[in-house]
Amino acid sequence: MKNILVTGGAGFIGCNFVRYILNCESELKVTVFDKLTYAGRLENLAAVSERFGARYQFVHGDICDAAKVEETVAVRNIDTIINFAAETHVDRSILDPDAFVKTDVYGTYVLLEAARKLGNLRFHQVSTDEVYGHIAGHRRSVEEDALAPRSPYSASKASADLFVNAYCITYGLPVTISRGANNVGPYQYPEKVVPLFVTNALESMPLPVFGDGKQMRDYQYVADHCAAIYLILKRGRIGESYNIGTGSEMTNLAMVEILLDELDRPHSLIQHVEDRLGHDRRYSLDVSKTLALGWEPDYTPEEAIRATARWYRDNRWWWQPIRDGEFKDYYDTVYGDRRELDLQ
Ligand code: NAD
Ligand code: TYD
Repeated sequence: MKNILVTGGAGFIGCNFVRYILNCESELKVTVFDKLTYAGRLENLAAVSERFGARYQFVHGDICDAAKVEETVAVRNIDTIINFAAETHVDRSILDPDAFVKTDVYGTYVLLEAARKLGNLRFHQVSTDEVYGHIAGHRRSVEEDALAPRSPYSASKASADLFVNAYCITYGLPVTISRGANNVGPYQYPEKVVPLFVTNALESMPLPVFGDGKQMRDYQYVADHCAAIYLILKRGRIGESYNIGTGSEMTNLAMVEILLDELDRPHSLIQHVEDRLGHDRRYSLDVSKTLALGWEPDYTPEEAIRATARWYRDNRWWWQPIRDGEFKDYYDTVYGDRRELDLQ
């Protein structure tokens, strides 16, 4: 691993990963390949560019553009592709699934083809716990479980996982897949629940909790997720998938209480609103296979949420322009007519 292509590296997890891996490997070169959608921002990588100089390069491109992908891989002598690029927000996938099918499914296929044609490159797919669908009772998802996605987003990510596995079996492409739980931390676009609620709270706006707020999620710190992906690249078995999370989930209401407490804001900001369509009640990962590689998360979910709340409190420069821009229309579309629920 000398020359890696990080697709989607200008987004939330991608930019944290680029920082992380350039710090870990002193000889490594990273090329970020990113379309710069609403979620991709060059300012997420500005400090990386200053600190690492020529070891970091940026290419503006769409992973659906086979010619541009193949040219980039060839010209830059890429030996490893790590695919973070995706449309990632469930509520946007409910509004309009089209971009999800294009980027998450077709785009992944384009990258796999490039990896196959240009020398059977090492390929890592960044996937999600959402591909397992809603997990009932006290069960935890293990990597061998059947995929049962229920939203257009998770269906597109699950389709990509199936293609990645098919390329390994059919062409012998050296692949791994990681399935991460909900990430929180710096540079997450404020449509996702934790940065949305933190920034709403900082602006004294209501926090729109979908339904009863008893849905369960495992909120992991993004740096922990990045460390696990790095370990899988180095020690993961080819052809295998790995779950990444803290292995401990909490309700959305518990998450809200933690962030309000950290910000010292009142509980009266909580507002129950009409539920998301097809809302998965619970995700829960068994992470023992990844722990066995020698990885361990540094943050509990509570520590991760508190650290994230502090980062947004201290970095208004980053999120205020986003909230004042495209985000406003999005917010009106998703939340404008949403019915308030009386759950007393
Ligand atoms: P994000 O939405 O913050 O960033 C996505 C990035 O991909 C952006 O920089 C965007 O510009 C880029 N992109 C989108 N379409 C592209 C295209 N066609 N070509 C090139 N670049 C394109 O996403 P994130 O939260 O950082 O998620 C990264 C990956 O991790 C995704 O694959 C996602 O499914 C997965 N994942 C996310 C979470 C989470 O909690 N956020 C959890 C598990 C897995
Ligand atoms: P989200 O951050 O969109 O991630 P996921 O992909 O897991 O759905 O949402 C996390 C949880 O928070 C999920 O149960 C939906 C809920 N949620 C709300 O209650 N209100 C909101 O405004 C949002 C965006 C999410």
